[in-house]
This record gives sequence, C-alpha cells and structure tokens, in this order.
Amino acid sequence: MTKPRQKRLAIIITAGPTREPIDPVRFISNHSSATIGYKLASYAAKRGHRVILISGPTQLKAPKVYKLFRVDTARQMHDAVIKNLLHTDALIMSAAVCDFRPRVVSKHKIKKGDKGFFAKIELVKNPDILKKVKMIKKSQRIVGFALETKDLVENAKKKLYTKDLDFIVANKIGAQSNPFGDNKISAMILYKRGGISRYKNISKDILAEVIIKRLEALWN
Ligand code: CTP
Repeated sequence: MTKPRQKRLAIIITAGPTREPIDPVRFISNHSSATIGYKLASYAAKRGHRVILISGPTQLKAPKVYKLFRVDTARQMHDAVIKNLLHTDALIMSAAVCDFRPRVVSKHKIKKGDKGFFAKIELVKNPDILKKVKMIKKSQRIVGFALETKDLVENAKKKLYTKDLDFIVANKIGAQSNPFGDNKISAMILYKRGGISRYKNISKDILAEVIIKRLEALWN
C-alpha cells in the first residue's frame, strides 16, 4: 500500500532574536543566531510546505521560502505573526523574543556625559506573541520553544499549557550545553496530549527534521 501524500501546509516560522532599541546606535537583544529557525524553514520548504519566515536580525543567509519578512523588534514580529496567522495552518515560534524594551528610545545618541541615563534605563513589557495567538487562533497548530537554565520539564510544561501549544521544544542552557552556540544539542519535546520525547546530542539539522515531521503528524 502506498503512503498517502503529506498535506501541503502553510507554516509561519519565526526565527532569531529581536532587537529593542535604546538609541540610534544601541539595543537590547540576546544570543540567538536564528540557526534552528532557518533550518526548520529550509527543511519545511524542502518538504513542499508554504513557509512564511519571519526573521529577526541575523548574519545567516535566508533559505528559499514562500515569503520572508524581516523584523527588528518584538512588536514588529508580533504584528507580522498576527497579520499572517489566520491564512496559515501552523505556527512555529522558534524566535527568542525579547520580553522587555526600553520605555523611551532616545532620538539622539546618548552621550556618556548624559547623567543617569545608563544608570536607569526603564523597561516595559513587550507583547507575548503566543499568548495573543492563543486568543485569536482558529484551527492552527502551534509549536513553541523553551530555553531554560533550570527546572526544564516543569518550566516547559507550564509554557505548553499556559500558551496552549500542541507541543513545545525544550532546551537547557548551562555549563554542559549551549543551544546558542553548539551545533549538537540535547532537547526534549513535550506534547499537549501527554508524553515526552528526549533527544541527546542531536544535530540541529536532525532536530529540525524531527520537529517538522512531528508537526506533519498532527494532520495524520
Ligand atoms: N514568546 C513569545 N512572545 C514573547 C516571548 C516569548 O511568543 N514576548 C515565545 C517564544 O518564541 C517561545 C515561547 O514563547 O516559543 C517561550 O519563550 P521563553 O522566552 O522561553 O519564555 P517566556 O514566555 O518569555 O517566559 P519566561 O520569561 O518566564 O521564561
């Protein structure tokens, strides 16, 4: 018997960090390189899916996808995801979104003589994109990521349920492993329906394949 053909899905994949400006030359960000997001996008496109890649700033060359949106800030990423969500089947939020941004962005470069500015940069919360997605999604399948320094399973489970995800990919960052830098990482996938898959020392290429196949399986 031949296997039924995989349904061609429209998938939003977010990748990379966001950048939150302080002034025209400085920003707050994180170490995300966009590697896993770009590998996911590349593999999903190879599988024939219609990929909308929403990317934060990165040095990486973007894979060939259906649509590519480049954004800087969390709010821009939020708007791009929300605008596209209802025309798609799935969202994979692999981006490392900055949770906070400076309340005021200086129009001019802040000089070191500007007393007190660097001593007190007031931060305000950015929107939680997945929480907004939870409120407006229809039948879209949603995949999240969790990067933790401790209590990996507990924290990832909390995110899985509070953000109402179909599954979550969890990595630990610490002395033994650095998902930002290492190409081989250890990861777990926790499912809404219950159960955990564990992957030790897996390359990001293989992890990307596993994630896309797990996503496809939600339609089988
Ligand atoms: N995420 C999001 N919007 C944000 C922050 C995170 O949609 N403002 C998404 C990430 O893309 C990821 C998931 O939420 O898929 C978990 O992100 P993470 O940074 O691990 O957790 P937070 O939700 O920021 O929670 P905490 O700060 O408690 O770790």
